[in-house]
Parts: sequence; structure tokens; C-alpha cells
Amino acid sequence: MVRVFTFASGKGGTGKTTVTVNIGTSLAQFGKRTIIMDADIGMANMGLALGLEDVPVTLHEVLAGKAHIHDAVYEGPAGVKVVPSGISLQGFQQANPERLKDVLGDLVEMCDFLLIDAPAGISRDGIIPLAVADDVILVVNPELSSIVDALKTKILTEVVGGHVFGVIVNRAGLEKSDIINQKMEKVLGVRVLGTIPEDQNIRKAASFKTPIVVKFPASSASVAIRNLAAEIAGIPLEQRGPQSQERFIERFTKVLFRGKK
Ligand SMILES: Nc1ncnc2c1ncn2[C@@H]1O[C@H](COP(=O)(O)OP(=O)(O)OP(=O)(O)O)[C@@H](O)[C@H]1O
Ligand SMILES: [Mg+2]
Repeated sequence: MVRVFTFASGKGGTGKTTVTVNIGTSLAQFGKRTIIMDADIGMANMGLALGLEDVPVTLHEVLAGKAHIHDAVYEGPAGVKVVPSGISLQGFQQANPERLKDVLGDLVEMCDFLLIDAPAGISRDGIIPLAVADDVILVVNPELSSIVDALKTKILTEVVGGHVFGVIVNRAGLEKSDIINQKMEKVLGVRVLGTIPEDQNIRKAASFKTPIVVKFPASSASVAIRNLAAEIAGIPLEQRGPQSQERFIERFTKVLFRGKK
């Protein structure tokens, strides 16, 4: 059965695009047919993140009624399919976000997972992705303004008939994550699905227009993102690949250490 997730936040810059692109790529690495779509039609940057900024047809043309969605689907890393949005202001003005529902109908035929990157804020084009997904995942930073805005987005999602599945805490520092997660769950009333640490490799990978899970698969953020993807897709621990590779390295290091004693 196809599952449609929207990644939303309320506050801007919490990491929605980064999380959508990398969870989508991880799901593709796990062999799941996955599409990631940039529904941030006003401030699109998924295309930029993946080197697809110059493609001829984007979601803009589709929502303007000038192209079919099949022509706006591109091949991304690890076989993830990407529907980028355009970056021109004119394209944004001509795009009708109400058409998104019809577009999804066509896309779900082609995949196991459809991940939608939502815009920040509570504009009209931001509300539709909250309503059309099976589940909304809130991407929140561990700071008060981000949590408060996420709460507004959660309430808005429920008002438009959507469902919030859980929270991803992104850019976590060294503070006690258990306490932060407990507070987060109390305030937002939904489960924390996982935490992604602050990781400089995310910016480095972005400068190569490549997801961190491909460019730096062993980095701390990549491990966390793969775990989240596996959690979302219900993939058992032993099939999570690089993570077991990490356990192997851990075991190997222990053996070496023991050998020196
Ligand atoms: N875990 C992280 N560690 C370090 N940097 C991060 C992390 N997550 C995201 N970033 C950086 O934060 C910035 C914002 O991320 P991103 O563009 O994914 O956020 P967004 O929520 O999509 O923003 P917008 O609301 O503008 O669409 C980017 O420069 C990204 O590289
Ligand atoms: Mg974004």
C-alpha cells in the first residue's frame, strides 16, 4: 500500500527539505519505490539541492495545467524519483495549488512512498500538503520558537482533516535528548520518531548537490536519517545495511582494543 507523508514545520529553515530528500533517498536505498516532491512552490529548493534546477518541466508547469505530472518526474540519487518545483516568480503565480490533489492521484500509482516537502508558514499552498497526506511529520528544532510554530502546524493539520504521525527533532545538540524529547511530546502531543544531530557534513554534502546519506553515509546524521527511514518503512534492524556495517566496525574496534590489553 502506498503511503504519502508530508514533512512540515511551521517555522522556516528547520530542515524539511534536507529531511525529505535524505529520508527519500534512504528509502530508495532500501529498495522502496520512492518519490520526493517539492510542494514549496514559492521558495522551491529541492531542485537546487539535487542539481535539478534547470530541468524543463517542474511542478509549476503541472499546476499551471501546461504539462503532465509524468513529465516532471526525474531520476535522483539511488533511484529516488524527484518532482522539483520551479524557481521563477512567474511560474509560482501561474501554479494553482488546488491541482495538487489530482497530481497525487497519478503519482501514487508509481511508488510505495511519496514524500512531500511542504513550505513553511500557513499560506494556502502550505495547507494543501497537510490535508492530502496520509500522515504529516513535523520537523522541529530543539528551540522554543520552532516548537510553538510546530504546534500551530499540528493544530492546522487537524483542522483541515489531516493527521500528524510524529515529530523529527533535527539539529539536536549535545543536550540531554531524552528530556527534550519528553518535553516535545508533552507540548505537541505526538511521538518523537527520532533525532537528527547537528552535523556539518549536511552543508558539505549540499555543496556537492548530493544527499548526505550518499555523500557521507557513515556520518552521524546519515545514520540517524537511515534509522528514521527504516522506522517509517517498518524495515527490520538486520536489513538496515550500513547500520549493521557500523555495528561491525564497533565490534572490530572492540576486538582490536582487547588485543592490545
Ligand atoms: N542536522 C543538520 N545539521 C546541520 N545543518 C543542517 C541540519 N539540517 C539542516 N541543516 C541546514 O539548515 C539549513 C536549512 O535546511 P533546509 O533547507 O532543509 O530547511 P527547510 O525547513 O527546508 O527550510 P525552508 O523553510 O526555507 O524551506 C540548510 O543550510 C541545511 O544545510
Ligand atoms: Mg525547504
